[in-house]
Amino acid sequence: MKKELRDRAEALAAQLTLEEKIGMIHGAELFATQGVERLGIPPLRMSDSTMGVRQDFEPDSWKAIGHNNDFVTYLPCCSALAATWNRKLAGEAGSVLGAEARGRGKDVILGPGINIKRSPLCGRNFEYFSEDPYLTGELAAPFIQGVQQWDVAACVKHFAVNNQETERLWVDVDVDEDVLREIYLPAFYEAVKAGGALMIMGAYNRLYGEHCCQSDFLLRKVLREEWDYDGVIVSDWGGVHDTRLAALSELDIEMSVTSDFDQYKLAEPLKKLVETGEIPEERVDEKVIHILMLMMRLHMLGGERKRGCYNTEEHRQTVLYAARESVVLLKNEKGHLPLNPEKCHRILVVGDNGDCTHANGGGSGEIKALYEITPLMGIQKLLGGNCQVDFAPGYCRDRVYAGSDEDGDGKVSAANWQETSLENGGGLVKVQKEDEASRQQRRILRQQAVKLAASKEYDQVIFVGGLNHDQDSEGSDRPDMKLPYEQDELICELLKVRPDMITVLQGGSSVEMGQWIDQAHSLVWCWYAGMEGGTALAEVLFGKVNPSGKLPESFYKSHRDCSAHCVGEFPGGDKVRYGEGVFVGYRYLDSFGIEPDFCFGHGLSYTEFSYGEARLEEKEGEQPGTVFVTCEIVNVGERTGKETIQVYLRQRVRDKKAPYQTLAGFEKVELAPGEKKKIWIRLHGNGKDREIALGSSSRDIRKVIG
Ligand code: BGC
Repeated sequence: MKKELRDRAEALAAQLTLEEKIGMIHGAELFATQGVERLGIPPLRMSDSTMGVRQDFEPDSWKAIGHNNDFVTYLPCCSALAATWNRKLAGEAGSVLGAEARGRGKDVILGPGINIKRSPLCGRNFEYFSEDPYLTGELAAPFIQGVQQWDVAACVKHFAVNNQETERLWVDVDVDEDVLREIYLPAFYEAVKAGGALMIMGAYNRLYGEHCCQSDFLLRKVLREEWDYDGVIVSDWGGVHDTRLAALSELDIEMSVTSDFDQYKLAEPLKKLVETGEIPEERVDEKVIHILMLMMRLHMLGGERKRGCYNTEEHRQTVLYAARESVVLLKNEKGHLPLNPEKCHRILVVGDNGDCTHANGGGSGEIKALYEITPLMGIQKLLGGNCQVDFAPGYCRDRVYAGSDEDGDGKVSAANWQETSLENGGGLVKVQKEDEASRQQRRILRQQAVKLAASKEYDQVIFVGGLNHDQDSEGSDRPDMKLPYEQDELICELLKVRPDMITVLQGGSSVEMGQWIDQAHSLVWCWYAGMEGGTALAEVLFGKVNPSGKLPESFYKSHRDCSAHCVGEFPGGDKVRYGEGVFVGYRYLDSFGIEPDFCFGHGLSYTEFSYGEARLEEKEGEQPGTVFVTCEIVNVGERTGKETIQVYLRQRVRDKKAPYQTLAGFEKVELAPGEKKKIWIRLHGNGKDREIALGSSSRDIRKVIG
């Protein structure tokens, strides 16, 4: 099958002139390559990203065309999908994206982003799934399959170790090879092998001194030779630096952000080197063959191709389901949640995020959403006019951010940030500029909100704050985990006058909560959860939906507790040493006894589950030797709910060189009150000589085998 495909691609490639072949291996537009009309080979049309299909730009400038037909379904970000711990939902979300990409006439969707969340400060964390390679791979694979069933290629990115934005174009990652293979590569392996990703994007950064997009080690040795990958490898936009190296490497397509397409390294410069015999033409042929094979797989060169569709009612339903399951109930100490809508006559929502849309931000992941339900809209919609919902912003954003506005005149000069994204090393740590005017305004907003909250008018006060895409953004990292815009002060003051306040935070990675966490009895975390995020949040707050999200990452008390910072380096300089080795995320915290605010896998429900005896069993119909962990789970509470049962492999005898425990399986199950189910969890990895721990989170272990 594979051979036949290759033979066909080779035969077609043999009919192409050098000029035509060169046209196919580099950008001829910002998001497309050149086709060969005489042979019916179309251009390859690409678009970002994972939260939806991006708006269309002019072929040669970053000016949005401004179509009125490129509004789309806005999906939950990858971190939100990861928080669902639901493989089926991940697949359905992927299918929405694939259908929309096809519906919009795209051949490739530039996602999902599957880099490991090494530090909570990475600006693109919201585009990534988790700090855990197994969880990332388990969700990315069905997502990719979902996309590709629509004859659209998923392009997993960014291969590899693209774990920070600071100096992203140049930073050289120094990570031990065994660590690379244990932590940073497995999700890509799963994406390629189990997910069948037809395309992969090289990262901007360097690894072992080589730029990833032209790396011999990553692209040839690992991808092509070890993993036997015959899909297409595309560069990140502007990630190619050397014609010879790129030509000789396994990279197939060079893309960039500038419009001098003929001057791309794999354009005229390569053509010259081939003509003078310095680079063998076979190198070009090999790239073209990969591209043609991809086109055949997508039925672009004949055969029946799926049509796709976008903005359908079904898509909106799916993104709502995913959003619902992504909400994480972090704390509900006094059982204030869920709120009873019947008892609410007047409520107050405080916080800029309550009334803020996020779709159109964050960098290349930006979405021109058909609509976006904010938390405030979601609450109003749910209460249906039977309760007065007042809003107070409580805080406001800074008007000026370092980095977005170099000269400080309040204007960002480029039509689109991406146009200048290759300047200055490509990324920085974004520090909030001192801005007295914004501070003054915040003082007033804070006073107003606290005064309202203190009045006896309200049955309930709900605070909705956290981060936005000024912090969670491509091209920059956060300096620390502190909540921006003096929100800590605001939350403290609000909790003083309303100790029963519900606190909701939104963001792509955790924030410091130390100043008020002990006072906040009810705490909910939501991510950038797509166009129905506000609906889902309201449904959780008012008990229409029982929360079932679990943290796909550790919520540290401070970034200083994260191993990338306290053992390794982040963001480093020209080089960044991953000195923490395999001790990433909970692997570090659990091995060294460090308490996070909320641990990996944590997430509460409005019901309770009890765990029966756990056993190791083989399952009928499965390959002999495949080990399953089984356990009977009972919903012992009063509401229907979903539980994610997590399996961790733990050391029996302490070995300080390896993590104390690692996630090795999970299953999500729905149970009605009183209902019991036997759960089968496939064990990933070698359980020999290990203790097998089953639980509701990494630190709420209910049963141990062995
Ligand atoms: C990003 C990629 C994105 C590409 C195209 C780059 O800035 O790193 O993730 O797919 O632009 O927009």
